[in-house]
Amino acid sequence: MSDYKIRGYKDSDYEAVRELFSAGMNEYVPPVCVHVLKQPWVLFVLTCMFICLLVSSKSLILPVLAVTLALALGRQLLGYCWSMYIDHCLKEDLRDISKTYMQSKGSCFWVAEADEIVIGTVAAKPSEEKQEELVLKRMSVRKDFRGLGIGKALSREVLSFARQNQYRSVILNTLMVQHEAQKMYESVGFKKYIEFVLPTVYGKLINFTVSKYRHDILPGS
Ligand SMILES: CC(C)(COP(=O)(O)OP(=O)(O)OC[C@H]1O[C@@H](n2cnc3c(N)ncnc32)[C@H](O)[C@@H]1OP(=O)(O)O)[C@@H](O)C(=O)NCCC(=O)NCCS
Repeated sequence: MSDYKIRGYKDSDYEAVRELFSAGMNEYVPPVCVHVLKQPWVLFVLTCMFICLLVSSKSLILPVLAVTLALALGRQLLGYCWSMYIDHCLKEDLRDISKTYMQSKGSCFWVAEADEIVIGTVAAKPSEEKQEELVLKRMSVRKDFRGLGIGKALSREVLSFARQNQYRSVILNTLMVQHEAQKMYESVGFKKYIEFVLPTVYGKLINFTVSKYRHDILPGS
C-alpha cells in the first residue's frame, strides 16, 4: 500500500483540490444516466416512441435511430446539468478554500497526500441549520488510490476534529448513485437518518434522491 499522510489544506493545493473534486463528481454522469433510464416514465416514453415509429415507418432503422438519438441527447443534457452543478460548487465554497474553511476555528479542509501529490480531500464546516452540528463535505479520493482506506481515514479526521471542537454530531449528504461512499460512511459509524426526493420539478421527474447521514459524537468518546 502507498504511504500517504493527511494534512491541512495549503494554498498550493488549490488547483489539485478543484480538479480532484470535479473528477470525482464527473464519474457520476454515467450512473445518473442509468438511474434516469430506469424511471418507468422514461422507459414508457422510449418504448412508445419505438413502437409508434416502427408501426408508421414499417422499418426498424427509423425507430432504432430515433431512440439512439433521444438517448444521446438525454446523455448530453444530463452531462450539461451535472457540469453546471460542479461549476456551482467550484464557484461557491471551493472558490476561496482558505477563506471558507481555514480562517475560522470551527471549520477545516484536509488533503491526503502521497509523494507530494494530492490524492484525497475532505472538508468540514458548521451546519447552518443546527448548532453544534458539523457538515462533512467535498470527500473525494483519486481513482487509483481507492480501496486503501483513505476515505475512511479522511472521515475519521473529520470525526476527530468534531470531537476536539465540541460538536455533537457530524452530518453529510449523499446521492442515490453514491453507493461506495454510502458503504464507506457506514463503515465508520455514520447512520442514514433521512432520505428524500429533491423537492423540485426536475428532482421529482428523475426521482433524484438525497440520503442524509449522521454520526453522533458521544461526550468523552
Ligand atoms: C467514496 C470514496 C471517497 C471512497 O474512498 P476510498 O478511499 O476508496 O474508501 P476506503 O478505501 O476508505 O473504503 C472504505 C469502505 O468503503 C466501501 N467501499 C469503498 N469502495 C467500494 C466499492 N467500490 N464497492 C463497495 N464498497 C466500497 C467499503 O465498505 C470499504 O470498507 P472495506 O474496505 O472495509 O470493505 C471514493 O470512492 C470517491 O472518491 N468517490 C468519488 C467521489 C464521491 O463519491 N465522494 C463522496 C461524496 S458524498
